[in-house]
Amino acid sequence: MALSGKVALVTGAGQGLGKGFSDILLKNGATVALLDINETVGKSAKADFDKEYGEDRTIFLKCDVTSDEQLKDAFQKTIKRFGRINIMSNNAGIVDETNWEKMVAINLNAVIRGTYLALQHMKKDTGGEGGVIVNTASIAGLAPFLLLPVYAAAKHAVVGFSRSVADASMMSGYGVRINTLCPTFVKTPLLEFLSNAGTAGQFFHLFHLVQDIEARIGIVEVPAVAEGFLQLVTDEDKNGAVMVVKEEGRSYMDFPKEFMLDLKAHIPGSETKPPSQ
Ligand SMILES: NC(=O)c1ccc[n+]([C@@H]2O[C@H](COP(=O)([O-])OP(=O)(O)OC[C@H]3O[C@@H](n4cnc5c(N)ncnc54)[C@H](O)[C@@H]3O)[C@@H](O)[C@H]2O)c1
Repeated sequence: MALSGKVALVTGAGQGLGKGFSDILLKNGATVALLDINETVGKSAKADFDKEYGEDRTIFLKCDVTSDEQLKDAFQKTIKRFGRINIMSNNAGIVDETNWEKMVAINLNAVIRGTYLALQHMKKDTGGEGGVIVNTASIAGLAPFLLLPVYAAAKHAVVGFSRSVADASMMSGYGVRINTLCPTFVKTPLLEFLSNAGTAGQFFHLFHLVQDIEARIGIVEVPAVAEGFLQLVTDEDKNGAVMVVKEEGRSYMDFPKEFMLDLKAHIPGSETKPPSQ
């Protein structure tokens, strides 16, 4: 998928990974709607991008992804301004086990909301142009994380949801690919939780393990994850793919196929290719 002329919507775009994803999309020719609940970081990201790419390449929209109304409004404003949406990044996320219902609302429910809204706009059977959705999970979506059980639950759910919708989209001939990104720790403001035992909530007493966890998992920089994100956006062969980004580089998860339907046997002539794993 060439990005020139394509329109992307990125949530949590004001800083960290969302800003990195927006930057790499802009660098490769796309136009980006930057969504964030935090107006200060959102406007500052837009100002940085204005200097680098010109004012007409982005819009900033203040949006709380847990609000159905605000997210729908952001879709409408993006389409009004740029004409279409081809790429959706459901990326906004927090770490806070003490307020786990809010964390599930942002890290899982809003990813579902954003995916379904994006499908509605992109799917070819209702006149859409097709496209690609990339959901940000985490390696906490693939392995247990004893300090952050609800964070891990939400990220596991993002992986399962995204893979399932990818199959459903392919079987429905929507022409929309759905992929998932699972980075290790990434150097962003979110990592402040590593020095704030309060965020561990219920399992506060295990916080002394945090340094061992950090040493085992490792930390990558935002641009390395953004390169992986770009690959998931542009590689037309990837649907239902789950990419891990770690210090050693990036790789695709190879899940057991034991319980998976053989999709190829069921859908001849689909425009979207079957999951790659
Ligand atoms: N940093 C890491 O170590 C790491 C590792 C794996 C996965 N992730 C995931 O990557 C994603 C991005 O994290 P990050 O590290 O860039 O974090 P970050 O804190 O640097 O940035 C997150 C952005 O999301 C925004 N946001 C928070 N709640 C929101 C809401 N309700 N509506 C809209 N925007 C909201 C914040 O204002 C912020 O700008 C998250 O889903 C996170 O779980 C992060």
